[in-house]
Amino acid sequence: MESNKKIVIVTGGGAGIGKACAQRFSKEGFGVVIGDLSEADGKETADLIEKAGGKIIFLHGDIADDSFCRLLAETALDKWGRIDVLIGNAAARNFTKIIDATEEEWNRLLAVNLRGTAQCCQAVLPTMIEQQSGVIVLLSSEIHRTGRTEMPIYDVTKAGIISMTRTLALEHAKDNIRVNAICPGYVVTDYHIRKAELQGRDPNELYTAKSGVFNRSGSPAEIAGPIHFLASDEASFISGQTLTVG
Ligand SMILES: NC(=O)c1ccc[n+]([C@@H]2O[C@H](COP(=O)([O-])OP(=O)(O)OC[C@H]3O[C@@H](n4cnc5c(N)ncnc54)[C@H](O)[C@@H]3O)[C@@H](O)[C@H]2O)c1
Repeated sequence: MESNKKIVIVTGGGAGIGKACAQRFSKEGFGVVIGDLSEADGKETADLIEKAGGKIIFLHGDIADDSFCRLLAETALDKWGRIDVLIGNAAARNFTKIIDATEEEWNRLLAVNLRGTAQCCQAVLPTMIEQQSGVIVLLSSEIHRTGRTEMPIYDVTKAGIISMTRTLALEHAKDNIRVNAICPGYVVTDYHIRKAELQGRDPNELYTAKSGVFNRSGSPAEIAGPIHFLASDEASFISGQTLTVG
């Protein structure tokens, strides 16, 4: 077992906001475990962080699989003996309307975005309870509140994350575990750039898309910063809350 570093687990740490979180927490001196469905993206993030001098372990897998959620926690414990922060970031999307949705489409989004996220919490909680310290930050979306017609099933799961956040915060305040949710506005990631290119649109237009009060989209780093704040001791009296960013 190695060192007395603080340790963060980031689900979906291979790309987008999760990758920015892995980089930010590594820069702040954390040992990092990332889990991601994409082997190529996970390896690339791990390489980047190692080259920058950070300590990171990448695990390839799907958070819809309970044993993968447990593996993330077990790996952090085997390597470092503690888990300080869980960032429940991985999520699946689909663009199906409720009137058209199949059982399979519902099941996949519920399995990843809600049950998978909950299983990751379940995997880290016994350690955090034993430590009598820990922070969980879950990724919801500002869309959970406003609604939209484009991704209704995804939006339902993001509303569920708010309820999960509140319940876990109430349940585990006695264990000195804080749980908060972040609701990003529109944040451009490689996913959006690839999608725009496939649709023959100019990806530069993505950056001028309005999000919240700003006449622009956000960057993954602009979400990783507030997540780092919520995970820090500066936020020691904040739990069960939902922070909109962008
Ligand atoms: N980008 C935005 O505008 C935005 C807005 C609101 C909320 N969010 C939320 O932020 C989080 C990150 O979004 P993003 O835009 O960075 O996404 P992204 O698609 O850029 O990256 C997500 C990463 O998660 C991984 N992943 C997906 N499903 C997984 C699974 N089942 N198991 C393990 N890894 C998995 C992907 O392979 C990918 O590397 C999500 O929860 C999303 O709902 C994003």
